[in-house]
Amino acid sequence: MNLPSLVRLIDVGPRDGLQNEKQPVPADIKIELVHRLQAAGLKEIEVTSYVSPKWVPQMADNHAVMSGVQRQSGIRYSVLTPNLKGYEAAVLDKPDEIVVFGAASEAFSQKNINCSMAESIERFAPVVEAALSAGIAVRGAMSCTVGCPYEGDIEPDRVAYLAGLMKDIGVQRVDVADTIGVGTPLKVQRAIEATLQHYDVNHISGHFHDTYGQALSNTLAALQMGIWNFQSSVAGLGGCPYAKGATGNVATEDVVFMLQGMGIDTGIDLDALVDAGQFISAHLGRAPNSRVATAMLNKRKA
Ligand code: HMG
Ligand code: MG
Repeated sequence: MNLPSLVRLIDVGPRDGLQNEKQPVPADIKIELVHRLQAAGLKEIEVTSYVSPKWVPQMADNHAVMSGVQRQSGIRYSVLTPNLKGYEAAVLDKPDEIVVFGAASEAFSQKNINCSMAESIERFAPVVEAALSAGIAVRGAMSCTVGCPYEGDIEPDRVAYLAGLMKDIGVQRVDVADTIGVGTPLKVQRAIEATLQHYDVNHISGHFHDTYGQALSNTLAALQMGIWNFQSSVAGLGGCPYAKGATGNVATEDVVFMLQGMGIDTGIDLDALVDAGQFISAHLGRAPNSRVATAMLNKRKA
């Protein structure tokens, strides 16, 4: 076993978590969520996305949210940019990192960003070039690396192909995403192995949705390969509008509890994180979708 001694978590709650909410969440609530996440010790936060408001209305307030956040030094604030139009809007808000997002499935690429895998790379290339020359870091999200809602199982060679395309255009690090949460540990390890053909272990992160309850197991499977960067979502918020039925990312609270129990450092204050999750869940009118948060909140009441 090759377990890392520290793990860096990117909380994607404000973006992946909220993008699928039907009722508009006011910008000041999103800003408060970001503030609470940074106070809890998150060093990376995915704040919003610069996508078409017709496609994802919930992210239409990207500028208000990004400009309203009182930033702290040492924290990386990232945003999604699918094309140059998105990048040009995003750059005015000075993100530390932009994220281009492709898929290891042709069908999902079409549904999510309205173009083929190859066309998506053509769109990303000038975005990546512009960001790198402006000193902005670049991450690439790779959706559907184990399964696709339209194509079913995805073979690892599709993942290797996408990772290679991302590498060719200068994307610095990539997320191996299980968009619909159908992955199980060995499948996720195969997707990571495929990505390792093009990126080293320090430049690969795990992004596991928890639809079938496998995300913590998949996180452990990735940790055993030495992966030490993960995306997770406070209170288990989320889902992708173009992956029907898929639920949120693994809850950040659950990952932090597991890592703490394994003696792996995250720098996160679990109590403050549970408070952040409770804050946003209360706004949404439901309980946090995290076993750890539920257990800790019950314990506080007792
Ligand atoms: P398109 O319709 O092919 O683009 O959409 P277009 O260039 O033909 O433009 C059509 C209209 O959109 C035009 O407006 C453009 O100005 C506008 P109109 O003339 O009709 O008024 N437009 C934009 N507006 C704002 N920002 C932009 C932008 N680009 C064009 N950047 C596009 C292509 C990618 C824009 C569209 O498909 C889109 O916005 N898709 C949304 C995708 C999305 O946000 N999905 C969820 C995030 S990905 C995810 O959750 C997965 C992840 O978590 C990993 C995982 O779990 O797998 C990352
Ligand atoms: Mg996602």
